[in-house]
Amino acid sequence: MSEEQDRQRLEELRQQLQYHNYRYHALDDPEISDQEFDQMLRELVELEETYPQWITPDSPTQRVGYAPVEGFGSVTHAVPLLSLSNVFSEDELRAFCQRVERWAGTQVTYFAELKIDGLAVSLSYEEGLFGQGATRGDGTVGEDITQNLRTVRALPLRLQAPATINVRGEVFMSRDAFVRLNEEREKQGDAVFANPRNAAAGSLRQLDPQVTADRRLDIFCYSIGATDNQELRTHSESLQYLQELGFKINPHAQRCADVDALLSFIQYWATERQGLPYDIDGIVIKVDSLELQEMLGYTAKSPRWATAYKFPAQQVLTKVLNIQIQVGRTGALTPLAHLEPVNVAGSTVSRATLHNEDVIREKDVRIGDTVILQKAGDVIPEIVSTRSELRTGDEQVFVMPSHCPACGGDAVRLEGEAVRRCVNTACPAQRLERLVHFASRSAMDIDGLGPAIMEQLVNAGLVTTPADLYRLHKEQLQALERMGSKSAANLLQAIAASKEQPLPRLIFALGIRLVGIEAARDLAERFGTLQALAEAAEDDLVAVKSIGPKIAASVRQFFAEEANRELLDELRELGVNPRSQATAAQGESVTALKDLTFVVTGKLEGWTRSDVEQLLRQAGANVTGSISGNTDYLVAGEKAGSKLEKAASLGVTVLDQEQFRTFLQERGVSFD
Ligand code: IVH
Repeated sequence: MSEEQDRQRLEELRQQLQYHNYRYHALDDPEISDQEFDQMLRELVELEETYPQWITPDSPTQRVGYAPVEGFGSVTHAVPLLSLSNVFSEDELRAFCQRVERWAGTQVTYFAELKIDGLAVSLSYEEGLFGQGATRGDGTVGEDITQNLRTVRALPLRLQAPATINVRGEVFMSRDAFVRLNEEREKQGDAVFANPRNAAAGSLRQLDPQVTADRRLDIFCYSIGATDNQELRTHSESLQYLQELGFKINPHAQRCADVDALLSFIQYWATERQGLPYDIDGIVIKVDSLELQEMLGYTAKSPRWATAYKFPAQQVLTKVLNIQIQVGRTGALTPLAHLEPVNVAGSTVSRATLHNEDVIREKDVRIGDTVILQKAGDVIPEIVSTRSELRTGDEQVFVMPSHCPACGGDAVRLEGEAVRRCVNTACPAQRLERLVHFASRSAMDIDGLGPAIMEQLVNAGLVTTPADLYRLHKEQLQALERMGSKSAANLLQAIAASKEQPLPRLIFALGIRLVGIEAARDLAERFGTLQALAEAAEDDLVAVKSIGPKIAASVRQFFAEEANRELLDELRELGVNPRSQATAAQGESVTALKDLTFVVTGKLEGWTRSDVEQLLRQAGANVTGSISGNTDYLVAGEKAGSKLEKAASLGVTVLDQEQFRTFLQERGVSFD
C-alpha cells in the first residue's frame, strides 16, 4: 500500500473508533462488538508504529502513553467548583422548594438526578479537543490530573463538534471493578480499599497513568462550567447538548413539575439504588431553567438553585471498648470512644468522638455498651444511641476528669460552655497540637512538617513555640532519628519558605480560638499587619465583616496574653511578618504614616475604599471602621454621612479628597 493509502486508512480508523467510542459510552448503544472495536484499534496501533510522525494526542491509541509524573501541578478553576447544600428529609426538601419558589416568584420546574458517589472533576476542551482535567481541590484550586483522566475511556478526547467548553463530572469506580481490584490487591498482599469512592480517588491520584488506566474508572458528566454555546435555556438542554458532544450522561434523570414529583423520584431510588452497578449517596435536585439559576445565584459555598437529598446513613451495632480523653490545641478535653471495629457504609470504624460530657450523659453511653453507629454525612462516625436493654451490669459509667490527662493541670468548664478545657497554656498536649496546626497545610503549609516530626522536635526540646521553628539549624535536625541530611535541608527550606505566606494564613496559624481561615482573611484585610490586629479595640474588631462579639473577645484575649505578644515580636524579628515583606519595596513610605489612625468614608473618585485603606496601611497607618477618640483623621469622600458629625464632635481632622492627596504628597506617600 502506498503511504497515501495508509494515511487515509489511519484517518478512517480514527474516525470510526471515535464514533464507536461515542456510541458505546455517550449513547450506551454500541453498533459493533468489543472484539471488532479491539481489532480496529490494533490495526491503528500498527499503522502508528510504522508512521510515528502521524500520532496526535487525540488519537484513540493515546489514552495511555505518558510517563509517570513527580507530582501534580495546580490548576486555578476559571469558574469555581462549588459543593451542594444538603437536605435530609421530606420536610427539608419542601422548605428548600418553598424558598426557591418564593425567590423566583413563580412555580418552578426541577430536575432530579442521581448523586454519584465519586470525585468531582473539571474538564476543559478547546475547539473540541480535550486540553486539561483537574480535581476539585478546595473548589478554587485543584490538581492537574489530565494524563490520568485521558485513561478514562468514557471521557472523549475529541468532541463531536469543535466546542470550547468546561464540563463538570463525577469520576467513579463501578462496584464490579472495585471488587475485582480488591481481590487482586488482596492476592498481592496490598491493602484493600474501603469503598469504591476511595478506590476511585486513589486511582485518579496515581503518579503513573498506566496504573490509573488499569483501574477501570468511569465518568458521568453533570453540568457545564463555561461554554461558547449561547442557546442553552435549561439544565435538561445542557445535558442533551453534552451528550451530543460525546460526554457520558447518567440516564436516570428526570424533569419534575413539583416537589411531589421530586419525592417520588427520591423514594424510587432510595430502594432501587442497591441494584445500580455503582454507589450513589443521594439525589441532586436542580432548578431546570438556567435563567432562574442565575437569578437565584450562590451563597459562599453552594448554589441556591440546587441541593442534595442525602439518603439516610446506614446504621450498624458495635461495642464501646473504652472511652479516652484527647487534648486539642485549644485545651479542649474530648472524650473519644474506642469501638470494636465494624464496617459501616463501606469503611471500618474503630473510633468515634463523643464530643463532650453532656453528650455522653444525654446518650448515656457507658464503657461496655452496645451502641448504634452511623456515619454522619456518610463520613464521620457517630454514636447515635445506646442499646441499654442489652446491658449485662458490667458496664462502667464514664467520669469526665477534672484534670488534664496530659499535664495534670486543672480542667475547667466555663459557664455556658459544653467543653472542659485544660487551662495550663504550657500543657504539652496543647503545645504539640498548636504547633501541628501552625505548620499544617491550611495554615503555614510547611511541607514535610507533620505531626510525627513535630512530636520529635518537641520531645527533643528543640521547639516550644512557632518562633522556635525559624531558629532551627541543620545539625539539630540531623540529630533526630530517621532524619537524613537531605530531609533536614528540605525541611529547613520549607520552614524558610513559609515566611512568605500571606497574612491571613499567619493569623489563622496562630490558632486563636474561633478564628477560622475566613475570619483570618477578613481580619488581615481590615488591619493589614499583625501588630495592628494585636492593638485593635474590640469595637474595631466587631466592625469587621465576619467578626461577631465572641470572636472579637477571643482575639482580644489572645493578644492580651503576654506570651502571645512576645511570640509576635519574635516572629517579626525572625522575618515572619507578611506585611513588611509586601511593602518593603516601597522604601520610606512604609513608615510615613506610622502611628496615625484613619477612618475612610464616602465615595472617593477614582479610588475604591479598599484601595485607600490598603494604601494607608502600606504606609504604616492603622485603619479602623468607626470613629473614636483614637482616630486622627477622617478621609471623607462624597456622601460621607453621619461620620462627619461624629468627627466634628470628637475634634477629629477631616480631609476631603483634595486635601487627602496633598496630605499624602507632603508625606512622600505615592498613590498612583
Ligand atoms: S451538581 C454547583 N450533580 O456532589 C453544584 N453534583 O456536593 C455542582 N455530585 O462535589 C454539583 N453527582 O462532585 C452535581 N448529578 C450531580 C452529582 C454531583 C455527584 C457531586 C459533585 C459535588 C458534590 C456536591
